[in-house]
Amino acid sequence: MTEETRRKAALVGAFERGAATYEQLGVDFFGPPGVELVHRAGVRSGQRVLDVGCGRGAVLVPAARAVGATGRVVGIDLAPTMVELTRAEVRAAGLSQVQVELGDAESPALPPGEFDVVLGGFVVFLLSDPAAALRGYRRLLCPDGRIGMTTFASQDPRFTEAMQMLVGYLPADRRRSPTSEHDALFATAESTAVLLRETGYRDVHVTDAAFESRFRDVEHWSAWIWSHGARSLLEQIPARRLPEALAEVTPVVERARAVAGDLVFTTTVRFAVAVSPG
Ligand SMILES: C[S@@+](CC[C@H](N)C(=O)[O-])C[C@H]1O[C@@H](n2cnc3c(N)ncnc32)[C@H](O)[C@@H]1O
Repeated sequence: MTEETRRKAALVGAFERGAATYEQLGVDFFGPPGVELVHRAGVRSGQRVLDVGCGRGAVLVPAARAVGATGRVVGIDLAPTMVELTRAEVRAAGLSQVQVELGDAESPALPPGEFDVVLGGFVVFLLSDPAAALRGYRRLLCPDGRIGMTTFASQDPRFTEAMQMLVGYLPADRRRSPTSEHDALFATAESTAVLLRETGYRDVHVTDAAFESRFRDVEHWSAWIWSHGARSLLEQIPARRLPEALAEVTPVVERARAVAGDLVFTTTVRFAVAVSPG
């Protein structure tokens, strides 16, 4: 097994184990940017949309509502429990235009020219080779099809500080962010635009928007960080040290408390939308 295969298995494994609680803890984090991505990508009634790394449907469900009963949305994810739970949810919601399948966002095994829009909410930067994946999505798009993706422009400073403290609890040889090798590609709005242009897209628009997420208390925040990608970091901290790690980050997280209210974290999300020449 190569280092990259191991990294990918660990990342997807963390999403698999977090799937039951991912965006299910009463925290608006992935949901509002998902709605906004569908809007900014201009998804319209009757269109065919592919959502790569669909998770629990933060992009998939608003895309399904935007395309309506005459459209079609295919969601793929590599974590089987994400697929199973999201598929059950869309069935329960009567969204018969949606199909959710196990599939790899690196190179989706789907026929060429099949989609009007490819969307990826907070996933392309997690892939082994984002540029190769973006080039591959062009094959799946019809002429003048659109791509839309979100990345993190910046995290709340309290979140960043808490994560850095938690990294300090990792064994020395693992103190590296799992996505650090791609940081340069997505570091700025300009580098994101360059990536899209260099992978063959035109009419590239990259814009940022801030979103607030609220937590009742540190326990709520802690349950939330176990529910998404940060779980891959927490799982590497020796279990006996977790209480100490949480106690150390508590004052940092508490600094986000609005006067006598919730903990409020602000995350700036980067939206990139572009057109495929076909
Ligand atoms: C941060 S979550 C985003 C989920 C959803 N798009 C959203 O906006 O909430 C990343 C998702 O991508 C999935 N994922 C990671 N690598 C993947 C890959 N190579 N192929 C397909 N899905 C992948 C994870 O299982 C997880 O569900």
